[in-house]
Amino acid sequence: MDKYTDKTAENESRSDIQRRSDSREVMIDAKGLVKTFGSKENRVVAVDGVDLLVYKGEMVAITGQSGSGKSTLLNLLGGLDKPDSGKIISCGEDLTAVKDKRLAEYRRRRSGFVFQFYNLIPVLNVEENIALPVNLDGKNADKERLEKILDLLGLKDRRYHYANQLSGGQQQRVSIGRAIMANPPCIFADEPTGNLDSGNSREIISLFKEIIAEYGTTVVLVTHDGSIAAEADRVVTMSDGRIINERVRSF
Ligand SMILES: Nc1ncnc2c1ncn2[C@@H]1O[C@H](COP(=O)(O)OP(=O)(O)OP(=O)(O)O)[C@@H](O)[C@H]1O
Ligand SMILES: [Mg+2]
Repeated sequence: MDKYTDKTAENESRSDIQRRSDSREVMIDAKGLVKTFGSKENRVVAVDGVDLLVYKGEMVAITGQSGSGKSTLLNLLGGLDKPDSGKIISCGEDLTAVKDKRLAEYRRRRSGFVFQFYNLIPVLNVEENIALPVNLDGKNADKERLEKILDLLGLKDRRYHYANQLSGGQQQRVSIGRAIMANPPCIFADEPTGNLDSGNSREIISLFKEIIAEYGTTVVLVTHDGSIAAEADRVVTMSDGRIINERVRSF
């Protein structure tokens, strides 16, 4: 039997149904998001009227074919880009209303990003990469928290290593450490396992689950991989900039 129940509705927006039937704390509330690129004959509607609610402590996977708008949507939710229209309230911050300075603050303190190719700074070691967002925010990294994160990542004995001395799986763990160092309520990950073998991919997903259990973090990740998506609490499928299906995992 399918372990998912289909929640797609024809006439009522998904987020409206969820809002009515759920009392969990909403962390991300996106409504009517539209994002276009280019103009005239080059115009691409990358995100085309997306509504999405994400609850505290949830792991939501966004899937869909290449070019369906997954990264664009993730970037909007994570405050890396602004929509042409629509509204996003993410972790208590109205991303569509705030000024750029406040948006930059949201990115440093309230959201963490994880990318497919890790994006570590090569001249910084593991510890320094993890501490970077806090240091960029003008603060010293809390030593105790850094230790705890290194422990969680299983990288205590690699703390002085540089990116080129680490495996792909280890590099991705460092980038996750960097994403959670400021203890943001939300993490956004774009194909975090896209460059890893299946064993390392499973480890990364387990790590996200540990982080959710430990800190109550909310995780939105984009993946092409069905077996990774199947680990999420909810799977959202996009096509041509729209959400065409949403499946909730039933336990
Ligand atoms: N900066 C940009 N300028 C112009 N077009 C863009 C830009 N970013 C994305 N697009 C277009 O928007 C659409 C959605 O792109 P997006 O990167 O969100 O897709 P995706 O689902 O993440 O694809 P993939 O699985 O290949 O990463 C595509 O047609 C893409 O070409
Ligand atoms: Mg993408």
